Amino acid sequence: MGELVVGIDVGTTKICTIVGEVRADSIHAVGIGIEPSRGMKKGVVNDVPALTQAISASVHKAERSSGYEIGRAFVSVAGAHIDSKNSRGVVGINSPRGVQIGDLERAMDAARAVAIPHNREVLHVIPRNYTLDGQDGIRSPLGMHGFRLEVEAHIVMASSTSLQNLQKCVEGAGVYVDRFILNPLASGDVVLTDAEREMGVMVIDIGGGTTDIAIFIDGSVWHTAVIAVGGNHVTSDIAQLLHLPFEIAEGVKNQYGHANPADIDPKELFMVPSFGEEQMSQVQRADLAHIINARVEELFQLVLKEVKYSAYDGLLAAGAVLTGGGAQLPGIKAVASDVLKMPVRVAGPERLSGMADQLRSPSYSTSVGLLRLGLMMDNEDDRRNGGRPAKGGKGPRTGGGGNGNGGTNARDTVGKLFGSVLKRLLPEDDNG
Ligand SMILES: Nc1ncnc2c1ncn2[C@@H]1O[C@H](COP(=O)(O)OP(=O)(O)OP(=O)(O)O)[C@@H](O)[C@H]1O
Ligand SMILES: [Mg+2]
Repeated sequence: MGELVVGIDVGTTKICTIVGEVRADSIHAVGIGIEPSRGMKKGVVNDVPALTQAISASVHKAERSSGYEIGRAFVSVAGAHIDSKNSRGVVGINSPRGVQIGDLERAMDAARAVAIPHNREVLHVIPRNYTLDGQDGIRSPLGMHGFRLEVEAHIVMASSTSLQNLQKCVEGAGVYVDRFILNPLASGDVVLTDAEREMGVMVIDIGGGTTDIAIFIDGSVWHTAVIAVGGNHVTSDIAQLLHLPFEIAEGVKNQYGHANPADIDPKELFMVPSFGEEQMSQVQRADLAHIINARVEELFQLVLKEVKYSAYDGLLAAGAVLTGGGAQLPGIKAVASDVLKMPVRVAGPERLSGMADQLRSPSYSTSVGLLRLGLMMDNEDDRRNGGRPAKGGKGPRTGGGGNGNGGTNARDTVGKLFGSVLKRLLPEDDNG
């Protein structure tokens, strides 16, 4: 029996808890708990008791399904309160043995010391590349000789109060937050290939309340953003324009929805139970596709704006990979590649073993990615700190001593160490 890790994807639509067993070269899912989400809007908590209850139900299901008690977990974060910026850190090197791990950490600390606005905290600090005595583009300067080390880092920040509210809900469900991990980084970990990451690629995770993007170039994360439009906006448009309750509109979208009207036969019809009508009314499927197309096109225009703002739009040779529940909409790939003017594919979690039938859908990319990325970060911590407390899964339900401060410390550590994890471990990953 290997070590256990647990990931909880707290989404706007669903909460998905996965228990994974760490094996020699992979993580094997041994239990899942999926529960509809409540108390969350656009990636932000708006009802603590409701969300706590939903998380608790998802955790209990995963416990029953795996046969293990869950004490701690890696937890996803998204929402409009996330923002990111690039920063530089410079340090002097004076060791005759060249650049040491401590030097990399000092450089990261310097990059991290950007003015952090009030009520915001650093979630991740990810090194993009290093410059040593003016020689740039260095991937890993460890052991190299030089006097002046510069790191270019990508810094992800979140609202402290939003994180505290989410932490309160997870801890209220009896689970200590081992780490918070930004949604698209977790998804990107399991939907992108190493070749795509090297060439330049964007992962677009279309959830219910938000669409999360991350840009990977030269094997590392260069830009991240969260857009407050997701699949629920498509459903709301359908509900409004066809005069349907939201739940019925959701069913209509999933059964007849298509994002590309050009692909739909104008004569094709379906029946819906509209508000205020005694009988079912007829709707042209092409009309539905026009409603969906308008919102989906707007969404990709917002993504395009974000990519142009990042100034990396010319560097995405491998195009975009769509994931998240919203990526299952038929025709969405064509609309995306039309607006973004780049190759697009749709993907679910690929680096997966155990319960694959249930987890293969793009809806579960974040959940599966949390396990892998969280574990890689923990391993990196272990390597540097010479050991950390046992990871999620085993132990008492409130194990880990979560008391509100614990989570903050966990985030600080992640922030410091995360980057080199991505840089160092991903290219060598045998699943990639
Ligand atoms: N077959 C389908 N066709 C079209 N859309 C779908 C389909 N299945 C799910 N969706 C949409 O996917 C969205 C939910 O995606 P997902 O499960 O990734 O969300 P989430 O992770 O809970 O939300 P978020 O990441 O925004 O917090 C919903 O808007 C839902 O309507
Ligand atoms: Mg999601």
